[in-house]
Amino acid sequence: MTLAVIGLGFVGLPFALVAAKSGQKVIGVEADKKKYDTIRNGKVPFYEPKLENFLKETKDKTFEVTNDINYAVSNSDIIFLCVNTPENEDSSVNLTYLKTAAAQIGKSIKKGNNEFPVIVVKSTVPPQTTESLVKNTLEEFSLKKVGEEFGLAMVPEFMREGSAVNDIQNPHLVVIGTNDDKTDDRLTSLFESIYQNSKPPTLHTSIVNSELIKYVNNAFLATKISFINTIANICNNIPGANVETIAEAIGRDPRIGKLFLNAGPGYGGSCFPKDLSDFVNYSKSIGYNPLLLESTQQVNQTQPKKIIEIITKKSGELHGKQIAVLGISFKKDTDDIRQSPSIKIIHQLLELGANVKTHDPKALPNLKKIFSDKLVYCTDIAKCLKDTDLCVILTDWDEYQSLSADDFIKNMNEPRVFDTRRIINPEKMLTVDYFALGYGN
Ligand code: UGA
Repeated sequence: MTLAVIGLGFVGLPFALVAAKSGQKVIGVEADKKKYDTIRNGKVPFYEPKLENFLKETKDKTFEVTNDINYAVSNSDIIFLCVNTPENEDSSVNLTYLKTAAAQIGKSIKKGNNEFPVIVVKSTVPPQTTESLVKNTLEEFSLKKVGEEFGLAMVPEFMREGSAVNDIQNPHLVVIGTNDDKTDDRLTSLFESIYQNSKPPTLHTSIVNSELIKYVNNAFLATKISFINTIANICNNIPGANVETIAEAIGRDPRIGKLFLNAGPGYGGSCFPKDLSDFVNYSKSIGYNPLLLESTQQVNQTQPKKIIEIITKKSGELHGKQIAVLGISFKKDTDDIRQSPSIKIIHQLLELGANVKTHDPKALPNLKKIFSDKLVYCTDIAKCLKDTDLCVILTDWDEYQSLSADDFIKNMNEPRVFDTRRIINPEKMLTVDYFALGYGN
């Protein structure tokens, strides 16, 4: 079987390369000229561990990149739609790229080289989108009937940025959403062949359930984070309280589970904030006001302000203070700063009149595009700490974990550290004015 993967972004490229590495023939399509040229030259347009090696190993062997969608579709049996579904300014979901790609696929399958091509939506889409917008567009442009002349499916992706390759290679579950047996059989045998060694559990369901599973999964994880952030904020006001101990204890209850209980400055990235907002809008549009999900959003939106409030309470006026911010990306192991709480916190620090120096192992080039000369950018942690009055740790990069009290003492004017991720062991910091989110005073 040959696969076409339309859209080589954060989801499409890792999926295409993992499939190619497993031995499938994959044709990746990227319409953006800059990204297409980068991939054609053997480089990944964003930072993602392991991905560049996968590209080197598969390019021009099992993986081919093109900007010609018609070529890719005409030569493929299964076509994955991995295009971006970004947010409009009014926070509604923008399905333009999805519709355009579906129209182009429709035109290509009209010519009909391949028998019963299967089109799979992998982009995150509001429930009912696959069976309305995608299906209607495909049928309109191909003049063919779904279920008879081509198959349609929705296969959500659960991988995380920063661990995309591992997550796609070892999924906790493969969800195959189809409305007919022929399409389900084709996808079942494709995934059996991609996962011939690991054999992950597979759930076969309808298209609408697949779309919902993706939104509900992200909504639950985001709610878990807002929950533990709420508890951390409460702990901050209780002498002796420790959110780490509490998360560890409740996480041992198998009904709760220990993952995604790390309190911090709030969830960011291109998924949770957008998906929650799309899901809330969708739910309202069908007549239900999802109060719990709205609270999850509110907690997250106010968390950066909470961080500023804690800093101000501890350090007093921030006007004129030199502040070192460690960590810009929305999480470690990525250069992605979309919806990163660090951006909101830096904006607030500048508004309050602080001078901000920043460090991040990967994200500084992206940060410069937003703040240009308003910040000092440091590729070295010691230089970032030099002559500052306060250090705020915002991302959980491994390199911050190994910082010692001495690193702060010898560089800073006043060794005062606010650790929003509790990444440093407090016992190492007894000689520093160290405070953390979720540790009561
Ligand atoms: C998230 C989901 O975890 C993936 O399953 C999903 O496929 C993806 O969205 C998507 O829809 O495409 P991702 O956004 O890459 O993945 O990153 P996460 O590891 O989930 O982290 C999201 C945010 O939550 C980050 O800002 C992270 O720092 C924060 N977070 C995560 C916490 O604050 N605490 C935690 O315990 C976990």
